[in-house]
Amino acid sequence: MRRSRSRKSKRDSSQQMDFGRRITAIYGLNLALSYENAAVERLEQRASQCIVPEVKRNLQRHLKQTRGQQERLRERIQALAATAADSTEAEAITPTTESARLPIPEPPRSFRNMMDEVGTEREREVWESVNDLIVEKAEVVMYKSGIQALELLGADKKTISALKKNLQEEEAFAKLLEKNNPRIAKKLMKEQMKEGKKKRIAQVTTTGKREVEEEGEGEEKAAAVATTDSETVAATTTATAA
Ligand SMILES: [Fe+2]
Repeated sequence: MRRSRSRKSKRDSSQQMDFGRRITAIYGLNLALSYENAAVERLEQRASQCIVPEVKRNLQRHLKQTRGQQERLRERIQALAATAADSTEAEAITPTTESARLPIPEPPRSFRNMMDEVGTEREREVWESVNDLIVEKAEVVMYKSGIQALELLGADKKTISALKKNLQEEEAFAKLLEKNNPRIAKKLMKEQMKEGKKKRIAQVTTTGKREVEEEGEGEEKAAAVATTDSETVAATTTATAA
């Protein structure tokens, strides 16, 4: 009797542990999903504002991939929740629609204001391309540690391979950004310097032209004043002589 009770309590604790692990695994998957929800929002915004066609295309492609990643995570969350012992709990552990905060460095307010006021479109593009890379690298870190944690929790193969697939895509996109960013930044800054030079030349030409015009106007005025003065002198002399 005592033996059977002990076996029962052992079984219960094992079930409890499995359930606990499942909940932890779902929590981890939901955390990754909240991150991807935020990534989709950012990629949508970036793809619509990006001024470099090549980057725009890559962002759109990764946006499509990210939507696939969300789907993979949702599917695994639902699969794990379906095996949860208590259906009430299962309802509570549905795929999240919330978005996490992406780890993008927040510059000091004065820098941000300066960028908003005097920054050019090209400078903003370079700035955001650095943030794109930071986000993708962070996703790589998140999936690597997530896979480790789920392996320790004894998660099923399908869940692990879903995370591995997401990791592969993040690594590939981070690698692409790391390779392309310096070349694109260089091109944008060169264009900006050329444009700046053109603007300066145009400015100098306009200023020079204005100065010449003003100089001309000044000379005309001086001549007019001289004429008026000599006329006055002549009139006074005539009047005095008379
Ligand atoms: Fe990503």
